[in-house]
Amino acid sequence: MDNVPAIEVSGLTVKFPIRGGVFGKVQSYFTAVDNVSFTLPQGKILSVVGESGCGKSTLVKSLVGLVPMAAGTFKLFGETVVDGHLVGKGEKKLRVSDLVQMIFQDPFSSLNPRQTIAEILTAPLVARGVKYNDAETRAKELLERVSIPAGALQKFPHEFSGGQRQRLCIARSLMVSPKILLCDEVTSALDVSVQAQILHLLDDLRNEYGLSILFISHDMQVVRALSDEVLVMYFGHVVERGIADEVLTNPQHEYTQKLLASVPTIKRKICP
Ligand SMILES: Nc1ncnc2c1ncn2[C@@H]1O[C@H](COP(=O)(O)OP(=O)(O)OP(=O)(O)O)[C@@H](O)[C@H]1O
Ligand SMILES: [Mg+2]
Repeated sequence: MDNVPAIEVSGLTVKFPIRGGVFGKVQSYFTAVDNVSFTLPQGKILSVVGESGCGKSTLVKSLVGLVPMAAGTFKLFGETVVDGHLVGKGEKKLRVSDLVQMIFQDPFSSLNPRQTIAEILTAPLVARGVKYNDAETRAKELLERVSIPAGALQKFPHEFSGGQRQRLCIARSLMVSPKILLCDEVTSALDVSVQAQILHLLDDLRNEYGLSILFISHDMQVVRALSDEVLVMYFGHVVERGIADEVLTNPQHEYTQKLLASVPTIKRKICP
């Protein structure tokens, strides 16, 4: 099963209703993701790039059921996903959230300010029937792994910096031992010096746990450094995909060329 892709998506389409008139009736649909197909090989990092509003977040949200798919098929490790569950032969149906976890851009609003770190980290396991003490032991292990002192368990999210909060979000996502992480602009709210630490951590975790990662970013240098493959989106469509180094060094599609040309370089002078 090693050569089965972690994610296999075919013809994925997401539409949002456009309402109007006095009664707010649905008048038409806006297609945010249009017939997108891709595979994420096991243990690899696939980056999704494209300008703001091209449908990157909508694409990953549809994989975890935060927005409904209008069309398309979605397979996890070769098994079709229907209504958030894997349609496998096993007796216990696996939920998508047992295998796939999402980390969001903003570590400030991703953690409930009224809960302690212990409550936040243990909740996903306790909800799955794991005893609290066992969940807490795992939380301590993961805090250590993301370099946060175990004393953090009794603290609240506001007592941490942005980079530390993103580490806490990563620890929370790993509590259920997922096989796939969906990372939506996970470093863009952070200071540049902290960004590198988070990216190194993700790369280390990928190697350690054999994680497969779908990574969304605006930062082409980060994408080039981190990804194995890249998917370029434009107005909801995939216009180019391939090995990251090849696509970013020698882009074939006109849009990818423009996207790369728009990346500012340090050589350019702002003042004459
Ligand atoms: N819940 C929603 N209802 C209606 N339209 C939506 C909704 N969510 C997203 N859209 C629209 O879908 C399009 C794609 O949005 P999306 O958030 O996926 O873009 P993105 O590529 O992630 O952009 P960014 O890089 O700025 O995060 C946008 O035009 C957006 O306005
Ligand atoms: Mg987005």
